[in-house]
Amino acid sequence: MQIFKEKQPLIATLLDYKSAGEIVGLVPTMGALHEGHLSLVQQALQECDRVVVSIFVNPTQFDNPNDLEKYPRTLDQDMELLKRAQDDIIVFAPNANELYGKKVASEHFDFQGLEKVMEGKYRSGHFDGVGTVIKLFFTIIKPDKAFFGEKDFQQLQIIRKLTELLQLPVEIVGCPILREESGLARSSRNERLSSLHREKAAFIYDTLIKSKQLFGTKSADYVTKWVKNEFQNYPFLKLEYFEIADIQTLKRVNRKQEGAQYRAFIAAYADDIRLIDNMPLNN
Ligand code: PAJ
Repeated sequence: MQIFKEKQPLIATLLDYKSAGEIVGLVPTMGALHEGHLSLVQQALQECDRVVVSIFVNPTQFDNPNDLEKYPRTLDQDMELLKRAQDDIIVFAPNANELYGKKVASEHFDFQGLEKVMEGKYRSGHFDGVGTVIKLFFTIIKPDKAFFGEKDFQQLQIIRKLTELLQLPVEIVGCPILREESGLARSSRNERLSSLHREKAAFIYDTLIKSKQLFGTKSADYVTKWVKNEFQNYPFLKLEYFEIADIQTLKRVNRKQEGAQYRAFIAAYADDIRLIDNMPLNN
């Protein structure tokens, strides 16, 4: 296991691997690793000769300083988990100035509307921060492939747009959502839920399943109203948004189009913990 906290030695090491013709994969994370992250690492190990996992709690993507401060930092434990997955994974865990230079600030991106809806609407500047840090990682590591979870589907589509706009030669691989037994999508934030709320939060998944069934015969409007009503009658969670959107544009569906693919997206609070999830509706 190799850990790099500085970019120059990492760049030099990767250059050796690349000149030997090896395929380099990148799995960007903010640490506090769980099974969801590890499923991305497994997929990367299957598809690449070398896997770099970045562990960096990116300050520029947090709109809430309290959330940034409370974000779990568990580097030693993360290293243990990765070592168990594969002994020759490369970890890149820089500090903010090493990665950004002196000025830790976001660049502004135009993701052609993808950044304006859902997470972008409720977390101002979030996707500028994500775009900035991923551009930095891609520039330093120059991976052949990069792996992102569908858990953050909007983020995945924005990264695809980023690579298209900047014409970066990296293949973006989307990986399926890993869930707890109850159906709750795995997340570092689940650890902060009380056991009651952790159990009750499975309602998000149950509602997505039912929405998918309803969407077979009903309009997006009908399903959205139904979901809002379900949440109103459920005291354990507070719905922030529910949307049914086209997977390419992330725009809300007006009328179902033949051949288009749709997903349902939810953000809800359990206590003060914000949870997100989504589900494909076509299959
Ligand atoms: P983080 O929340 O640590 O997630 C890292 C990657 O793991 C993301 O691609 C996310 O979608 C994926 N992931 C998380 N939970 C998952 C689950 N239950 N199933 C499948 N994949 C899951 O997302 C970020 O970090 C940051 O925004 C980052 C991309 C690293 C930029 O800072």
